[in-house]
Amino acid sequence: MTLEEKYKLLQEKNAQAELGGGKEKIDKIHASGRKTARERIDELYDAGTFVELDKFVVHQTTDFDMDKQKISGDGIVTGYGNIDGRLVYVFAQDFSVFGGSLSRTNANKIIKVMDLALKNGAPIIGLNDSGGARIQEGVKSLAGYGDIFYKNVMASGVIPQISAVLGPCAGGAVYSPAITDFVFMTKKTSYMFVTGPDVIKSVTHENVTKEDLGGANTHNSKSGVAHFKADDDQQAMMMIRELIGFLPSNNMADPPVKPCTDSTHRKEEKLQTIIPDDSNKPYDMKEIIETVIDDKIFFEVQPFFAQNIITGFARMGGKPVGIVANQPSMLAGVIDIDASNKAARFVRFCDAFNIPLITFADVPGYLPGVSQEIGGIIKHGAKLLYAYAEATVPKITLITRKVYGGAYIVMASKHLGADVNLSYPTGEIAVMGADGAVNILYRDMSKKEREKAIEEFKKMFCNPYKAAEHGYVDEIIMPRDTRPKLIQSLEMTQNKRVNNPPRKHGNIPL
Ligand code: HXC
Repeated sequence: MTLEEKYKLLQEKNAQAELGGGKEKIDKIHASGRKTARERIDELYDAGTFVELDKFVVHQTTDFDMDKQKISGDGIVTGYGNIDGRLVYVFAQDFSVFGGSLSRTNANKIIKVMDLALKNGAPIIGLNDSGGARIQEGVKSLAGYGDIFYKNVMASGVIPQISAVLGPCAGGAVYSPAITDFVFMTKKTSYMFVTGPDVIKSVTHENVTKEDLGGANTHNSKSGVAHFKADDDQQAMMMIRELIGFLPSNNMADPPVKPCTDSTHRKEEKLQTIIPDDSNKPYDMKEIIETVIDDKIFFEVQPFFAQNIITGFARMGGKPVGIVANQPSMLAGVIDIDASNKAARFVRFCDAFNIPLITFADVPGYLPGVSQEIGGIIKHGAKLLYAYAEATVPKITLITRKVYGGAYIVMASKHLGADVNLSYPTGEIAVMGADGAVNILYRDMSKKEREKAIEEFKKMFCNPYKAAEHGYVDEIIMPRDTRPKLIQSLEMTQNKRVNNPPRKHGNIPL
């Protein structure tokens, strides 16, 4: 072979590998509204930075005449590149090759790139679009899944792990995304379920569509399995880029700081009037959040699930923060099972990755109800308590209005180790609301006496001053000063060093 021929051979092999399962299959993928693995990667990474690994790897199976059907790369594209100039690893299932199904070779490629991500301390993104275990490989494929799950668990809390489900994801295959930190789904083109509609029909006789069972809407608003919903593949890739911008590369690194042009001293007169006079009236907590963060840029996590609690990333003075906030305009901001699960997982993510937490509290309590009690609100509600208490990142809390009972404690109170506890003058910190308290304390009062007692109770307990007398609230601030006060608190705590007692791991109530 001449030199020229050798170079040409490489070009041909590259072109062949990049074609995956061929034009016909790619056309079918496009017709379904999806993109190919390589097109997705192109959109995910900074132009020209992606480096592909193991492009010529092929499967080793001979059963079912598989030795005659070898395609370079074997249906998975792995590699690394830059997102906003920062190193990120990826694996992307290529549906054009055996429906993106997972072979032993496939799994080995995924594990290899995950090992690199772990060794070099950078996030890993998995773009899932697969018919599941490669049927022709039997238990070898199952073993591959198992090995990936194990690696996902080992990487948990060490490097950020992000999954996008962009096509089918069924059977046990859903458990790799489920273990990762964030799951993106695309509307209409993705679905996740352990057992599909046909199996459900034969076992429980329930009729359900794929979309209702495991589509993006279902998992974003009902099950809480997914965190983000994108219109299509392209938007999903843009959203992942945005998310990565808030995250450190690994658990030993600080989150990425961006230059901040929004004044850290900015006061906002508008904040003085967001909270209504009547403490039973709702208001939108997002208005407060967006007014105080840098440039109003709030990257909300799980915006469609348990909307009575808000979670998301923002920047304060250029530095990423995790925000948890009750939402008084949704179910009065009560904490229920879903809200506790949602917020607890978010708090634990932030804590694992050195992202300070800001909590905005306005919560009447845990949600009363038979379904909540029988559903285990005791154990699920405990998760949020647990997550806040074990978190050692800076914890700053602002009470905007009512914090009653256990909900006062759970929303990053001083007692759970918060570093700075602020309250607006509208704060109401009490065991319960005035009506409920008077009902219990003075059962036999006349209507007039009751009204008077309620007024007195309100005056005495429905304010932040009792808590401030005990040092449970450090400072009562004017709403207009919120941004500078929060930034000062973050600066004051930025070198915080706290270690929980050594142990193998805690035992969070699951
Ligand atoms: C091998 C597979 C495959 C699989 C699809 N293909 N799934 N090959 N193993 N698991 C192949 C098809 O034969 C077809 O090949 C090509 O991929 C595209 O598939 P289509 O069926 O034409 O595509 P579509 O109509 O879009 O349907 C996609 C699909 C369907 C819904 C995913 O293919 C399907 O139901 N596949 C089986 C899903 C499944 O039951 N997987 C096992 C789940 S159990 P040709 O050559 O014709 O183009 C599991 C256990 C994991 O995964 C356990 C982990 C612990």
